[in-house]
Amino acid sequence: MKKVYLDSAATTQVRPEVISKMQDALASCYGNPSSSHGFGRTAKTAIEKARKTIAKYLNAHPSEIIFTSGGTEADNMILRCSVRDLGIETLITSKIEHHAVLHTAEALAREYGIELLFVDLDGNGNPDLAHLESLLKRDDSKKMVSLMHVNNEIGNILDILAVGKLCLEHNALFHSDTVQSIGHFPWDVQKTNAHFLTAAAHKFHGPKGVGFAYIKRNTGLQPLIFGGSQERGFRAGTEPYHNIVGLEEAFIAAYDHLEEESDYVLELKRYFIEKLTKAIPDVAFNGLSGDLEGGTYTLVNVRLPFDSEKALLLLFHLDLKGIACSKGSACQSGSDLGSHVLAEILSPEDLEKPSLRFSFSKYNTKEELDYVVEVLKEYGSN
Ligand SMILES: Cc1ncc(COP(=O)(O)O)c(C=O)c1O
Repeated sequence: MKKVYLDSAATTQVRPEVISKMQDALASCYGNPSSSHGFGRTAKTAIEKARKTIAKYLNAHPSEIIFTSGGTEADNMILRCSVRDLGIETLITSKIEHHAVLHTAEALAREYGIELLFVDLDGNGNPDLAHLESLLKRDDSKKMVSLMHVNNEIGNILDILAVGKLCLEHNALFHSDTVQSIGHFPWDVQKTNAHFLTAAAHKFHGPKGVGFAYIKRNTGLQPLIFGGSQERGFRAGTEPYHNIVGLEEAFIAAYDHLEEESDYVLELKRYFIEKLTKAIPDVAFNGLSGDLEGGTYTLVNVRLPFDSEKALLLLFHLDLKGIACSKGSACQSGSDLGSHVLAEILSPEDLEKPSLRFSFSKYNTKEELDYVVEVLKEYGSN
């Protein structure tokens, strides 16, 4: 059966060069990076090289890169340690953050009694920066802002420079969940004014179970996980050497081919929107995902004009046809909960219609997209 993978915002296909790098690492470099003998030192040296590589591409200092098990851990670590160690009293975020941020923020509000404020969103899901400024000005409490750079469901891109500037002006800490952004967009941490960023290798053709937190120097965070002295004592636990070198390989490939690969993926998105709109004229695009400039090039979130009976079996039907896409974000698959992001921005009537997220990668082709459009058209007209 034909198989089409259009769920790269959930996770990506691993690059072959990353797989071979990881295989070599697993087979030949099995020393514990904390051991002082040659086996350990080889692994340790490679981990430090990976840290330097990442720092170089982000224009950060290597000590600002902390390897984690992925985006969720990095988001949790940053928010929790900031509240615990830096005296944050007010956390300002939005209702369309990934649950790694949203659920952590809610837990922190319960556990530490901090105030949780949500910035207003416009109809497309863009934060109202004038409202953000009014929240920042509201009182003298110590504040932190957590707003994601690229939304994983609707693809909106935050004006991160403007938010960073506002945080700087109002002396607030700034965390941005950049899990859908690092590896897909150029980065220079010196320009963003963000104190904290997060990344996950599996979103840019690397392995699962590894990512990193960027933590600006001298922010004063203390460890979340205690144990050995790995990651300079900041994040204990024997490092997954093979994962870290896999992350490095994926990161280098992502940035060395960024222009040609992002142009290719953007063209796929343009083509898909054009074809789908021709085939199903009443189709709509949620958030800024239909916008070739305002939204990320990596995904579209499509609202189909199908009745509720058809909506029910749509994802199942696509799966039977070998097509992988997502209803909202991957964390919701397997549960009946709808998307909390779409619930914030769509009318009750539009929420009734089936919305699907198709997310693209360099491994997709226009022929695959033709097939998906054909399957959707046929399903809608039967
Ligand atoms: C925006 C965003 N933040 C955080 C995460 C969680 O990252 P991980 O799967 O590496 O824990 C994801 C993954 O879906 C994401 O899209």
